[in-house]
Amino acid sequence: MYINLLFKEKQTLMINIAIDGPSGAGKSYLARQVATRLGYIYVDTGALYRAIGLHMLDRGIDPSDREKVVAELENVTVSFVHKDGEQHVLLNSADVNSLIRTPEVSMAASAVSAVPQVRAFLLGLQKDIAAKENIVMDGRDIGTVILPDAQVKIFLIASDEARAKRRFLELTEKGTVTTLEEVQADMARRDRNDSTRDVAPAVPAHDAVILDNSDLDREGTVLAALRIIEEKLK
Ligand code: DC
Repeated sequence: MYINLLFKEKQTLMINIAIDGPSGAGKSYLARQVATRLGYIYVDTGALYRAIGLHMLDRGIDPSDREKVVAELENVTVSFVHKDGEQHVLLNSADVNSLIRTPEVSMAASAVSAVPQVRAFLLGLQKDIAAKENIVMDGRDIGTVILPDAQVKIFLIASDEARAKRRFLELTEKGTVTTLEEVQADMARRDRNDSTRDVAPAVPAHDAVILDNSDLDREGTVLAALRIIEEKLK
């Protein structure tokens, strides 16, 4: 009983901030900034699904072929390390950070993320780090499934137009050749996949604060989130 109490005490000492929402709302920028300003660790969970999507593409497996994806999981190990405040995802021990941000991998990640066994496969990894560190974790199901007891849950949204424009700029800055229409169509498809799937759909937790940043710039969004966090941690 005493040990149980101690264990509980240790767990509740960690501050967990969950930031969920659709793609392109600016979750990762926000989460990274909040983590830096609070001195917490930033955990980008989308990168884990991206790594699995990449693996399937590399092996010539259709990421929406659930049976093949599940069978291939036994050949996959995913982990991450944090170096100089930056998260590095390791796929079978190789750092794949620079390979997981392409539109192909985005679609593959969305497809594999709808497979319950893939979600189960990544569950422990996410829960473990949250139990050990003060973290800001971004994803789709952090407040609902991964960290239902997080002290702060923010669900970040923005209009479809604002999100597509931001993602388009981000991709073209990186040299990816695409069009705004293509980005908008991809995003709509991913939104549909992510929010209507049977398992862990991207929906706000009942106790999440909805933050709409359609009319806020990046700094305005960070300040709004910090105000929510301060209020919740009071
Ligand atoms: O956040 P992102 O765009 O890097 O995520 C890539 C895909 O992974 C996205 O389409 C949905 C999925 N995902 C998820 O299902 N659950 C998470 N916690 C994070 C991402």
